[in-house]
Amino acid sequence: MIDPSTIERILDAANISDVVSEFVTLKKRGVNQLGLCPFHNEKTPSFTVSPAKGIFKCFGCGKGGNSVNFVMELEQLSYPDALRWLAKKFHIEIEEKEESQEEKALKDERESMMIVSAFAQKYFSRYLLNENEGRTVGLSYLRERGIRDDIIAKFELGFCPDGKDLFTQAAQREGYKMDFLEKTGLTIKRDDWVRDRFGGRVIFPVHNVAGRVIAFGGRTLTNDKKVAKYLNSPESEIYHKGRTLYGIYQAKRDITRLDKCYLVEGYTDVLSFHQAGIENVVASSGTSLTIEQIRLIRRFSPNITIVYDGDDAGIKASLRGIDMVLEEGINVKVLPLPRGEDPDSFARSMSASQLTEYIKANETDFIKFKTQLLMGTVENDPVSKARLINEIVKSISVIPDTITRTIYIKECSRLMDVQEAVLYSEIRKIQNKQSEDHTRKELQDLQVQAAKPIVQSTEKKTVNPFETEEREIVRVLLKYFHQEVFEMEDEETHQVKTYTVGVYVLSELHNDGLVSVNPKVKTILTDMELNLNNKDFDPVKYFTQHPDNEISQYASNLLSEKYVESKRWSKGGAFIESESELLYLLVPKLIQEYKLKNVKILLKKLEHQINEANKSNETEKLMECLNQYQNLKKIMKELSELLGFRTIS
Ligand code: CTP
Ligand code: MN
Repeated sequence: MIDPSTIERILDAANISDVVSEFVTLKKRGVNQLGLCPFHNEKTPSFTVSPAKGIFKCFGCGKGGNSVNFVMELEQLSYPDALRWLAKKFHIEIEEKEESQEEKALKDERESMMIVSAFAQKYFSRYLLNENEGRTVGLSYLRERGIRDDIIAKFELGFCPDGKDLFTQAAQREGYKMDFLEKTGLTIKRDDWVRDRFGGRVIFPVHNVAGRVIAFGGRTLTNDKKVAKYLNSPESEIYHKGRTLYGIYQAKRDITRLDKCYLVEGYTDVLSFHQAGIENVVASSGTSLTIEQIRLIRRFSPNITIVYDGDDAGIKASLRGIDMVLEEGINVKVLPLPRGEDPDSFARSMSASQLTEYIKANETDFIKFKTQLLMGTVENDPVSKARLINEIVKSISVIPDTITRTIYIKECSRLMDVQEAVLYSEIRKIQNKQSEDHTRKELQDLQVQAAKPIVQSTEKKTVNPFETEEREIVRVLLKYFHQEVFEMEDEETHQVKTYTVGVYVLSELHNDGLVSVNPKVKTILTDMELNLNNKDFDPVKYFTQHPDNEISQYASNLLSEKYVESKRWSKGGAFIESESELLYLLVPKLIQEYKLKNVKILLKKLEHQINEANKSNETEKLMECLNQYQNLKKIMKELSELLGFRTIS
């Protein structure tokens, strides 16, 4: 925890020009400064800094905010970490909460493990490049595989001497403790013997996002099938395989800049892509992809292209990856490779420009990928076609973002030649089932709580079932508040009046008395309502620089969460509509979904009350509840029809 007065001091000191200049060369332009945007790829500068206002804004990609937002975005830090970063730069002491003894011990242990890993990496690299054995065995192997020296240096590759414990001895001579050598897995120790884990292997150090070495992969040089091709560091306090991506440190800048990430399987795949000039690439390293790995990518970009080996296992892994990635609100594409090729062999079989060409021509969105994969067997068989549609709809239904879903439905409708309404109703069926399960669970929880005789007044965190919907609504309001999208005819004068997104959304919520249980959302919406007619009101600025940190963080997170970018794969992909062009469609849909969910939850609660009233014979209450129930049912039907689905009773 950083205390508020320190935060104020940091914000006062954190001069925007100083902060930005650390990363961007700025030129004076009137009262402002101008430079090349670090967040997207551009040749003519559209990134401006206003020292007077203390903000930056890119007119190319639209990113903007204050110093903290800049650091958060560029260094991919959380709000408190960005504050710490700034405090360090401007020499401001931060009083943090005291750490407990255990916290301290754990931190020291992790630190020691990283220090010994850093030593090992340097030792292995030096051995590869400077020692006779390293050069004749390790380096010549890498060269034979066509790996260039600059790539060897960039990934800090190395070689571990082929002796029983040569490395361990060297480490101990330098004063590194056996305890940490063992805990990092560099050394394997039993009662009566000690040996190096990676002896005789080429070393691929694994870096965390910050660039520190946390683990190693060691490749054998023999073709002996009985020897494991790769040995990896064991799970440890500093290395969690499922939360790590090989190459993320070397890739993160380009993933942000190009707003896209290639996902491959292995160490050598990453190397070969870099060698071909494609640097926004990471590997899941042989494990099957995990949610944590996907979230790690999402910190940098919401666009992933899966490039797995061109064999059955690779295709199967791609299919599995697709649904996981979609569920995390990420746009996913697939680059199929010819049979028998992996990204490494494929990239090396052609020139860098040929590879880029191939990618451009063959990258497909997941619907096409699935369709092409399965279509061969479908042709004119309606049953198989229905099954395929169901397959694809299932994938679409896990996408959390309404807008993306809408766009994919259009695509699927066109590709499969099915009406959109049909697809919507299929999706609705799947979602209904899920939300029923969810509400049932909620009710069960309520009942369990009610059954408890004395509930201790613990501060139980209330879950907000509207979290996702409300984030979307606030985001759309932040971005398009003043955009005039809606028209309505005045009943008396018959004049057509236009309405902004702000007016439309807020009056819809207001008229139905919908109020968020989330205090942040509540404040934001109230402040927006007060400023509906204020043309100078800039919601982005207003909320990202809001004095309440929770609010400015909520707003800047929403704006920097890129998984809902305005342009969706416009180049080479199937979609041309941008979000701002689809607002007339998407905004009403958002509101209706929000309302529908409200009604559904109310219905469930009423059902519960009806049961209770029935049991206790409270006729009056029962009548009242039933009345409300009928009304709500009607509303639900209307809403569902507006959304283009029929209710399934
Ligand atoms: N892997 C592993 N242990 C193994 C085999 C594979 O940890 N015994 C992991 C490695 O991270 C490897 C990835 O799975 O990079 C992909 O495996 P594979 O395709 O077999 O290896 P390549 O990366 O292609 O390595 P090479 O080109 O040297 O064969
Ligand atoms: Mn491979």
